[in-house]
Amino acid sequence: MTTTHEADEDVRNRDIKIYVNGEIVHRDAAKVSVYDAGFMLGDGIWEGMRLYDGVWAFFDEHMDRFFNSCKAISLDVGMDVEGIRAAMRATQEANDMHADVHCRLMLTRGIKDKPFQHPKLSTTGPTLVIIMEHSKPVDRLQTRGIRLASVPQVRGLPHSQDPKLNSHSKLNCIIACLQAEQAGADEALMLDPHGFVNTTNACNFFIVRRGEVWTSTGDYCMNGVTRQKVIDLCRANGIPVFEKNFSLYETYGADEAFLTGTFGAQTPVAEIDGKVIGSGERPITRRIQALYKEAIRAHVAALKG
Ligand SMILES: Cc1ncc(COP(=O)(O)O)c(C=O)c1O
Repeated sequence: MTTTHEADEDVRNRDIKIYVNGEIVHRDAAKVSVYDAGFMLGDGIWEGMRLYDGVWAFFDEHMDRFFNSCKAISLDVGMDVEGIRAAMRATQEANDMHADVHCRLMLTRGIKDKPFQHPKLSTTGPTLVIIMEHSKPVDRLQTRGIRLASVPQVRGLPHSQDPKLNSHSKLNCIIACLQAEQAGADEALMLDPHGFVNTTNACNFFIVRRGEVWTSTGDYCMNGVTRQKVIDLCRANGIPVFEKNFSLYETYGADEAFLTGTFGAQTPVAEIDGKVIGSGERPITRRIQALYKEAIRAHVAALKG
């Protein structure tokens, strides 16, 4: 079994320092209360970001999504974007980190007076935690590709729990992931409520068919920063790209398929439901990967000045 977020073992991660509400402490000392709304109810929002050569890639886009999500659930961040940037910089410096780092920024509604649901029971203000780990995706994600299984668990409609909320509660995705694992795959391919192919449990999903790049309409999946970058790069480089409904029928018959996410950038898909995808040559995936690498390089260079 491989997961899409598998990184090379790095012993430095045993002694990383973690930010917990303004304190930066050794990971063994980094604790939150059992009364924390994140622990008790999954009441919180998070972001995953990556450090390339001293620059947090697409920080503005991540902050836009983060603050939008917090606003949507009336979670007061307690600081502005510059406050988050300063907290991340402090964590990065405490760990002497420069590149190949993954950050999980988490904000919950904070400690509750009583072990019940009402948001007003959180009276202490939010809990902000920043975990930064040394992280290089394992090579075999690129060479072998990932195996997906379509699963019965579907993505929800936006008026139940909007899939655009990067909430601490990931049970919908976790159930899907378990179903995929039980089917012998690495990750779940999830459908939307109408039966169209939508996303995986942890990444956005693309197929390549007859020279065209297809991804879902975006209605039931995470509004992935990497997803949008890939769409923009295709448009800027003359690769036909469509956000549209398509089914497993077209997916099984695709020439290539890949996942997108901040951690793995673009991860090739080898198999879906035991059916091998394409010839394994993946020329368009490779082209998009090269374009993305170059976009990151230019972004980093522009921000470093
Ligand atoms: C369910 C899901 N899909 C896709 C993504 C990828 O989004 P991004 O490209 O912004 O990392 C994430 C990451 O948070 C996710 O949780």
